Amino acid sequence: MTAASDDLVLDTVFRTARTANAFVDRVPADVQLIAVFDLLRMGPTSANTQPGRFVFLKSREARERLIPALAPGNVDKTRRAPMTVIVAHDLRFHELIPRVFPHFPRMQDMFTGDDKRALREVTALRNGSLQGAYFIVAARLLGLDCGPMSGFDNARVDAEFFPDGRFKSNFLINLGYADAAAAMPRSPRLDFGDACRIL
Ligand SMILES: Cc1cc2nc3c(=O)[nH]c(=O)nc-3n(C[C@H](O)[C@H](O)[C@H](O)COP(=O)(O)O)c2cc1C
Repeated sequence: MTAASDDLVLDTVFRTARTANAFVDRVPADVQLIAVFDLLRMGPTSANTQPGRFVFLKSREARERLIPALAPGNVDKTRRAPMTVIVAHDLRFHELIPRVFPHFPRMQDMFTGDDKRALREVTALRNGSLQGAYFIVAARLLGLDCGPMSGFDNARVDAEFFPDGRFKSNFLINLGYADAAAAMPRSPRLDFGDACRIL
């Protein structure tokens, strides 16, 4: 199906890439975080809305503010990770539509008004989640490893980091260079017939 030169990419992103549970003692440089964002921002979102927001908790003090919100099983691995990213979304993403969708700025009207709140929320969550996935793919392609986590209290994280209510947390990503020795055994994936239908 693929040229041999594609194998490295397919392995890096999917086939041999693993979720990181532990990391070696090496902190990604800020320039790498910028490089990850430069890639992920090119992934598609509806009407190019780009509602994903990313907060890099790099300092020990910033990470400690997160700890009380974590499920117990996520505390130690997060404390030991080089950094943690809050993947969030902006519920006021539509205010940027004239800038990011300039050929049809009136798309903003579709999302404006109290009666559009539910539409804004589902649009921000859907596209912010996509951008979170693009983050993982981009990070893997740039040599970083990710440990995504949804085991935490979103309301507590939002109160701590986004008190004005504009951004909502979606999931977290521990980020760095994996300690491969700490990987859990690979869990089975569903087969095509389990998950897909061709109609
Ligand atoms: C959105 C998301 C949330 C996750 N939440 C947690 C979590 O809270 N704690 C945890 O230990 N692992 C969590 N995981 C890790 C998954 O269990 C792991 O990615 C999955 O089993 C696949 O592992 P593999 O990539 O090594 O094959 C999460 C993964 C994703 C994508």
